[in-house]
Amino acid sequence: MATCGSMLWIHENHNTQKENHMTFDINKARRDTPGCEHVLHFNNAGASLMPQIVRDTVVNHLDCEMMIGGYESANEADERLQGVYKSIATLIGAEADEIALMTSASHAWVQAFYAIPFQRGDKILTARAEYAANYIAFLQVAERYGVEVVPVPSDEHGQLSVTMLEELIDERVKLIAMTHVPTNGGLVNPAEAVGQVAREHNILYLLDACQSVGQLPVDVREIGCDMMSVTGRKYLRGPRGTGFLYVKRDVIPQLTPPTLDLHSAMWTDADTYEMRTDGRRFEKWESSIASRLGLGAAVDYALEWGMDTISARVIALADELREKLSAIPTVTVRDLGEQRCGIVTFTVGGHEENAIKATLAEQKINVTVSTVASTRLDMEARNLDKVVRASVHYYNTSEEIDRFCSAIESL
Ligand SMILES: Cc1ncc(COP(=O)(O)O)c(C=O)c1O
Repeated sequence: MATCGSMLWIHENHNTQKENHMTFDINKARRDTPGCEHVLHFNNAGASLMPQIVRDTVVNHLDCEMMIGGYESANEADERLQGVYKSIATLIGAEADEIALMTSASHAWVQAFYAIPFQRGDKILTARAEYAANYIAFLQVAERYGVEVVPVPSDEHGQLSVTMLEELIDERVKLIAMTHVPTNGGLVNPAEAVGQVAREHNILYLLDACQSVGQLPVDVREIGCDMMSVTGRKYLRGPRGTGFLYVKRDVIPQLTPPTLDLHSAMWTDADTYEMRTDGRRFEKWESSIASRLGLGAAVDYALEWGMDTISARVIALADELREKLSAIPTVTVRDLGEQRCGIVTFTVGGHEENAIKATLAEQKINVTVSTVASTRLDMEARNLDKVVRASVHYYNTSEEIDRFCSAIESL
């Protein structure tokens, strides 16, 4: 329960956020984002429009590979590549040696999850709105090792109930694995409160922050997670095929990645090998250097704006969109949560979700549709088969929100 003190803080914080939002340099944001001239992009939780600097970084490195060779370009870019780890560490409050560069959030998540030494009888606690790929992995491990998967019930706001989580803790719980911002709505799960419980009981905590990093300030020390998976293409505005994994330094030795190669481990003698001791234990040798540099450029670009500035603007725009959509009689906004972010989900009476998406696409308006198969437990509990997902970023505007709502009204 929020105390008066924390309510006052929320109120004051909200006011500061509003002020930040008012002074935001939208002209610069849109100038740096050439895609804004072509589309009304409300699919930022799918993949955001890249800023020019990200595209230039990727293309420049590819040009360099074409001109002087792939290995030679990598050597030339080495300092900048090391800088990518440092930038990511700065973004999430970690150290550079706790970061592994990945090809996606799923890649990051599985490298951490399948590295956990599960034993028969272990328990995994998760949230109701857990992402399908993660849940499928839980079920596989349940089948393989006889592990039990327990979704923690939600509270009255629709987020994971921290009280219920505490009640479900026993000596069999090996892992708490939770999605911070689910794929199907604006809900923000209480990552920090969950971290406190995990720490008190010395339980491993894996956070899927695929949809939160880049739109909200996320600090791994404040949250207290042991592992965290993130994608590049969503709110971070990086290129597709990028992501990263954070693993807390003193947790790394407990985890053996499901597969190794000559980068994650060293062949030390005819019959022996040694795994790396830093985060790169979870990586593979071959990678797209251009994409990794592009991810670094995206992170640096986000840091230039500042995560507080970004999140204030994103949350204010999403609140505005929810309010304006709610005023349309046929629309039902579906977002849950005490704290909400830049993802807005809704249904429109008498209109099928994919048909809505197609009609909007004809007007160069991008949204996506989230289906029951992506967050089955949550969607079934709410009797939902599909929702339209409109996700805003800081380069969107109130004018776009108005145009979007008119398009929905005239369906
Ligand atoms: C909550 C959540 N986790 C993980 C993923 C997977 O991310 P990626 O496609 O980068 O593997 C998604 C993608 O939509 C997601 O919404």
